[in-house]
Amino acid sequence: MSKQRRPLIAGNWKMNGLSQPAATELGELVRLSNEHAGPNCDILICPPATLLREMATIAKGSAVSLGGQDCHAKESGAHTGDISAEMLKDAGGDYCIVGHSERRADHGESSAVVKAKAEAALRAGLVAIVCVGETLAERDADKTLDLISSQVRNSLPEGATATTTVIAYEPVWAIGTGKTPTPDDVAVVHAHIRKELGSLINDSDKMRLLYGGSVKGSNAAELMAVANVDGALVGGASLKAADFWPIVETC
Ligand code: G3P
Repeated sequence: MSKQRRPLIAGNWKMNGLSQPAATELGELVRLSNEHAGPNCDILICPPATLLREMATIAKGSAVSLGGQDCHAKESGAHTGDISAEMLKDAGGDYCIVGHSERRADHGESSAVVKAKAEAALRAGLVAIVCVGETLAERDADKTLDLISSQVRNSLPEGATATTTVIAYEPVWAIGTGKTPTPDDVAVVHAHIRKELGSLINDSDKMRLLYGGSVKGSNAAELMAVANVDGALVGGASLKAADFWPIVETC
């Protein structure tokens, strides 16, 4: 994959991972990345917050970065069960996913909430990975591009730049289902996002746009070859280093 922007291959472990097996898998990923010095992409794992510090220790000095899966918009305070972007940074994170469709659905997060969280990530010095994506009903009603425009416009943090912010397009119906859009469909949405960004930020041509939803070793090369696809946000296939590494290798 020869790309204008340096690709980012990111793993989202979601609510999976206990200390010991997670350490084994991350250790293996670090070993593979060390063996293949200078991978042609950035590699990121977003484990559950409980594992972040331990995983950051294992990945220290390697090409593997760590991140959070969500953050609160505030820096600290009386918000039981929440974690701030500053805490993620303190635990060894460099990135934070915000606005994942599972957060939007399970926790009713609007784009305004996602924007506030993305701004918190930037405030803490984290790169925000802002997720957008349509449901099957929205796709069937031909609302995909309008929905994506609205999510991008309303979720992008104030002052976003290509250095501080990444957009991940994850069609909800493709997440964990084994179904993926055709490369042509992905190309249409990514070109649309790129165009939308043009009116929102100065360095829009440099911002990385990831595709997520049932990415695996067998389909990654085809998806990563699509214009304006600058990497992947991977769920299930990021849990095992042996499944994740072939996706990294498509870079
Ligand atoms: O954030 C990654 C994600 O939602 C995709 O999950 O399991 O379809 O790769 P999966």
